[in-house]
Amino acid sequence: MPEPELEKDFSLEGSMPEGAAPLESIVCTEELHRRPSRPPDFEKENRALVALVTALSDSASTIFQTLAETILNVTKCDSAGLSLLTPDGGKRYYWPAIAGMLAPHLGGGTLMPVVPAAEECLLVPFYVDGKAVGTIWGIMHSDRRRFDSEDERILNSLGQFASVAYRTVASVDNLKVQIAARETAEAELRERATGLEARVRRLIDANLMGIFTWNLEGRIVEANETFLKMVQWGREDVGSAGMRWTDLTPEQWRARDELAVADLKAAGAMQPYRKEYFRKDGSRVPVLVGATLFEEGGNDGVAFALDLSEQERAEEAFRRVEEQARAIVDSALDAVVAMDAEGIITDWNKQAEETFGWTRPEALGRRMSDTIIPAQYRLSHERGLKHFFKTGEGPVLNRRIEITALRRDGTEFPVELAITPLKSGDTWTFSSFIRDITAPRQAQEDLRKAQAELAHVNRVMTMGELTASIAHEVNQPLAAILASGDSCTAWLGNEPPNLDRARAALGRITQAATQASEIVQRLRALFRKTTSLTTSVDVNAVIEDTISLVHHETQRHNIFLRTELTRGAPSVSGDRVQLQQVILNLAMNGIESVAGLDNEPKRLMIRSTLSNPGELLVSVEDTGVGIDAEHADRLFAPFFTTKPQGIGMGLPICRSIIEAHGGRLWAAKNEPRGAAFHFILPARAE
Ligand SMILES: Nc1ncnc2c1ncn2[C@@H]1O[C@H](COP(=O)(O)OP(=O)(O)O)[C@@H](O)[C@H]1O
Ligand SMILES: [Mg+2]
Repeated sequence: MPEPELEKDFSLEGSMPEGAAPLESIVCTEELHRRPSRPPDFEKENRALVALVTALSDSASTIFQTLAETILNVTKCDSAGLSLLTPDGGKRYYWPAIAGMLAPHLGGGTLMPVVPAAEECLLVPFYVDGKAVGTIWGIMHSDRRRFDSEDERILNSLGQFASVAYRTVASVDNLKVQIAARETAEAELRERATGLEARVRRLIDANLMGIFTWNLEGRIVEANETFLKMVQWGREDVGSAGMRWTDLTPEQWRARDELAVADLKAAGAMQPYRKEYFRKDGSRVPVLVGATLFEEGGNDGVAFALDLSEQERAEEAFRRVEEQARAIVDSALDAVVAMDAEGIITDWNKQAEETFGWTRPEALGRRMSDTIIPAQYRLSHERGLKHFFKTGEGPVLNRRIEITALRRDGTEFPVELAITPLKSGDTWTFSSFIRDITAPRQAQEDLRKAQAELAHVNRVMTMGELTASIAHEVNQPLAAILASGDSCTAWLGNEPPNLDRARAALGRITQAATQASEIVQRLRALFRKTTSLTTSVDVNAVIEDTISLVHHETQRHNIFLRTELTRGAPSVSGDRVQLQQVILNLAMNGIESVAGLDNEPKRLMIRSTLSNPGELLVSVEDTGVGIDAEHADRLFAPFFTTKPQGIGMGLPICRSIIEAHGGRLWAAKNEPRGAAFHFILPARAE
């Protein structure tokens, strides 16, 4: 229903008793809609409306006060009331009813020193014949609770009622005025003015709810538009034989109706209850009905009927959503555990039962920290919770973390955990999604081990291919030792012995022996089966070591091997043996690719460059046969090889090592011919 326009000189905030509500305390609709809201409580609202309707048919004079108290009660505010524009052209307001903290100030006086000013004030105007005639309002004098959009919805609904009440009171007052003026008022008019019937008339016309008058025989004497619409009958049907309240009632509700009739006969009124009426088309409409007899012991009365279909639909939808949410939570593959602001478990799904070993009924109500958090983390958990309420921040909230959790049997296991805080109304809930990662962790560990084994096998095999080179490599310092030993002996045999020269020869021996020992150390490292070890690695040094291993191989095949190493390149973080294995594999592939060529320029180039700040690029380029376009996308697949003796594990191992180091490895064309393999590694943060 579109709201009538507020008139220009109708000021909302002016309707508040002076000093009660500063302008900034008035909350606007937009702001309310941004706030989390409690779910609608239709039952409470119905009860309030029924109480008001009953009050209206009882006594028009107290209806405004009842309304103020109803607002206080359903919105749980501190003060509530009704403001009306004076009838003299509506320039000023007066307050016919105030309830709550401001109540003692009804009718004037200063408010300020006694009552705290409004923290928040919710105002709703109401209208008669399209004209705003007043407002109803609620005030919070402290910040213990804030209004939400449910409060606004209820206030709007009560606003409609205020309009009915206003008209009822106004008509009574008018008639009283007329009676007084004429002095010769007929008794019947007085009867009408003060009697129940006039108020019933108002109620009927207001169409706030379905209203009809009836008699105990089952006849509906008169009904308003709202009621007719509810049951889909026309005005012309009223009073007809078909439209009897007894016939409108489905079989199953007849017994309940009889109880109500008995109450009516005994006490003149009945407790409102929920029932159904048939619509004209045979479908049913759920309603809340209440009725009174016009006079005790009489035969006629008035009844109201509140259409509950909207509410029931909303409730049904709400229930379905809740059911669905439950089903989703229960079928989740993760454990879903919720906890309240006090750290008490409030939800526990099926998977949580399986993961932790507590059933749902056992877990609910327990402290979260005592139930699933290992003792060593409990303190920081409780501290984190306190910190969150103080600052609104939580470093572990809203993201995935890996942590250890506790089973009922006391065992600890690794989990991935995501905690999200949720606020509904004034209360906080923390939902946690917890995944047991024991199996994936184990699988990861197994995979790592398998890769290490494979890498080791690959190293040993490569070393096997390099026996000649290795022998050559170790031979050089040994030959130097031999030669220097000979000359040392000769210098000592001189007469007199040339001690200086002999000492120099001994120095060369020591140097060569150290070199040999270093070579053997490095070779042993390559043969050893080590689990990976992260240290700071100087990639240039690794390249140089590798070259010494393949040096002999390149000479044998007349390959021109060159390096271009960027001096002062940053070191990387990783396993030295594994990185050497990568360079060795790539170099061996390059050598194998150029070895078969005759008379071509046979070149192998190894470079290190700083490609981007913080990134080291290593390239191994050859002028060999190059990569067939049709093989390009299979190079890194395990067991792909084009060599008769090949195994096809070199490149896949290289790639997995580089990726484990946080880098990337790829193949490209070399210009003008051959293949190039590049990898980048993140530089070590100093
Ligand atoms: N530098 C290169 N030039 C041309 N082809 C290469 C080069 N490096 C690797 N390949 C191709 O990739 C395949 C797989 O290499 P790799 O995984 O090291 O296994 P293998 O050397 O045992 O064949 C090789 O068989 C070859 O066809
Ligand atoms: Mg290979």
